[in-house]
Amino acid sequence: MLVLGLETSCDETGVALYDTDRGLLAHALHSQVDLHAVYGGVVPEIASRDHVRRLLPQVAELLASAGAERPDAIAYTAGPGLVGALMVAGGLAQGLALVWDIPVVPVHHMEAHLLAPLLEDEAPDYPFLARLVAGGHSLLVLVRGLGDYEQLGTTLDDAAGEAFDKTAKLLDLGYPGGPAIAREAVRGNPRAYDLPRPMVDRDGFDFSFSGLKTAVMLKVGEAREAGTLDASRADLAASFQAAVVDTLVRRSLKAAEHAGVDRIVVAGGVGANRLLRERLAAAFPGSVYYPRIEYCTDNGAMVALAGALRLADADPSAAVRATARWPLTDLAPPGSRPC
Ligand code: KG4
Ligand code: ZN
Repeated sequence: MLVLGLETSCDETGVALYDTDRGLLAHALHSQVDLHAVYGGVVPEIASRDHVRRLLPQVAELLASAGAERPDAIAYTAGPGLVGALMVAGGLAQGLALVWDIPVVPVHHMEAHLLAPLLEDEAPDYPFLARLVAGGHSLLVLVRGLGDYEQLGTTLDDAAGEAFDKTAKLLDLGYPGGPAIAREAVRGNPRAYDLPRPMVDRDGFDFSFSGLKTAVMLKVGEAREAGTLDASRADLAASFQAAVVDTLVRRSLKAAEHAGVDRIVVAGGVGANRLLRERLAAAFPGSVYYPRIEYCTDNGAMVALAGALRLADADPSAAVRATARWPLTDLAPPGSRPC
């Protein structure tokens, strides 16, 4: 089966073709970062309009590049995400499916993220602990199998990516904040500022970034007042990044030990962070799996793969699904109930 995957949940337009026998055949991605950078964050209406402009031509180009006339099924991200943006892929998927008379599979964006490491040759076996760190969601999930998820921990306030983005704004580093902070941190001293690691010593596996964000805000305010922000920006970025990574790593190790798993999968945009990858790999005695960087942030390949694994959940209703909030734990194994 040849599955076309469409991703438009936020500010990336992603398309991909996944063959259930041969694996990923082709994928393409357009990032809207430049459109949103001037506003310091994603503007939903601008995101939807740009997806409308780009998605169909991108699909046509993808099919042509793979020498495919049409796929056998279409998967699209149905949530969680920006509703207007989600509707672009959903609308196109249902339209094309009607014309081509093929099944449509609505995909959960975070499930697609956590399955992304399966696109690699060295894919993890089940069970594994998924350390999901994206712009809107940060979760620690025990994955016993496809659709068999137990949420062990989550952020009580900002998601990890959100914390990076907000702190980058404070530091005048622009959008998106994660890569900007990582770049700036290279020149800084991660021990220059003693920043809090919120909740790491508490019971359970939840975490929080608001105390850390407030601590950075105070330091930035002091530096601004003293006229030393330019000189201390790299140290602040490095110290902040170290605190976030430390928090994520410590919570992940504790959860993996509790769940008794020797595999951790890191996925979602913040999974592109090199320090997080290095630290977790160094600290965890088991195996750590990452998708390659281009499959960490939003992309069509993970959606096509998730769709291919969930063909049993094709939606016969011809209705467009666009769900802003959709807990991962609402999912069930393929074919067991409508996802
Ligand atoms: O998974 P993703 O592309 O979108 C969502 O599903 O939310 O994640 C985007 C987030 C943004 O907050 C961005 O700042 C962050 O991932 N990010 C990073 C890095 N690259 C992207 N955070 C830290 N370090 C990076 N290298
Ligand atoms: Zn994402």
